[in-house]
Amino acid sequence: MLKISQLRKTFNNTMPVLKGIDLTLEQGEVMAVIGPSGTGKSTLLRCINFLERPDSGVIKIDGIKVNASRAKNSEIYKLRRKTSMVFQNYNLFKNMTALENVMEPMITIQKLDRKTAEERAHDLLSKVGLSDKSGFYPRKMSGGQQQRVGIARALASDAKVILFDEPTSSLDPELIGEVLDVIRRVAKANITMLIVTHEMKFAREIADTMIFLEDGVVAGKGTPEEIFEHSGNERIRRFVNRVMEA
Ligand SMILES: Nc1ncnc2c1ncn2[C@@H]1O[C@H](COP(=O)(O)OP(=O)(O)OP(=O)(O)O)[C@@H](O)[C@H]1O
Ligand SMILES: [Mg+2]
Repeated sequence: MLKISQLRKTFNNTMPVLKGIDLTLEQGEVMAVIGPSGTGKSTLLRCINFLERPDSGVIKIDGIKVNASRAKNSEIYKLRRKTSMVFQNYNLFKNMTALENVMEPMITIQKLDRKTAEERAHDLLSKVGLSDKSGFYPRKMSGGQQQRVGIARALASDAKVILFDEPTSSLDPELIGEVLDVIRRVAKANITMLIVTHEMKFAREIADTMIFLEDGVVAGKGTPEEIFEHSGNERIRRFVNRVMEA
């Protein structure tokens, strides 16, 4: 479903941030991305949807293949539609209600008519447990509720892969659980997901596979069990232990 080969990214001719990332996700696979701060996790997600332009490498999603070093805008646009992103800070439109936020990609990108979009948006809001908040603006919602709207919006698109960049790290501890519950439910629906997270227990429970990103390379890869219990890599073990204790 998603295949990345030799993805490289450097900012302003400084040190490379991504130094040749390879990864593959099968349809329905949930992959967790872990690793120290500043190691390029967000950059990786942002390169996959070309929010940042990679220097080189090939990204293939659901039959659309783009070679970053010579990508045309039309190809980038097609590729971008294959993913949708859930951001750390929700990124909702502040002047739109929850319902309108969820309708937005269906109307502007998929060009659905308003009535169909509205029906689907109501469905999606009910899936994330927010039927009663459809008319609310973001400022009247808690962080956890806003993030659940963000997830409903990601599901509203016709994306094949959902990218989550630390979806719970801006939330107060008591609100994290409700968002993780929603992501768990989405994961069960056979949706392909790449999740950057510091929630190790959650990652372990939800992920089919994990990668440990360090200094711009995939320094470890395996099932959660392999990463957490049998990692022969001392740095991965230290990182996991440190985050689990925090
Ligand atoms: N737009 C940018 N311009 C210049 N440097 C950038 C830019 N975005 C990211 N970087 C640099 O790239 C490196 C990787 O950043 P990135 O945000 O991908 O890390 P991360 O693994 O997501 O970290 P965190 O866990 O703290 O979110 C950092 O050194 C950062 O300073
Ligand atoms: Mg980040």
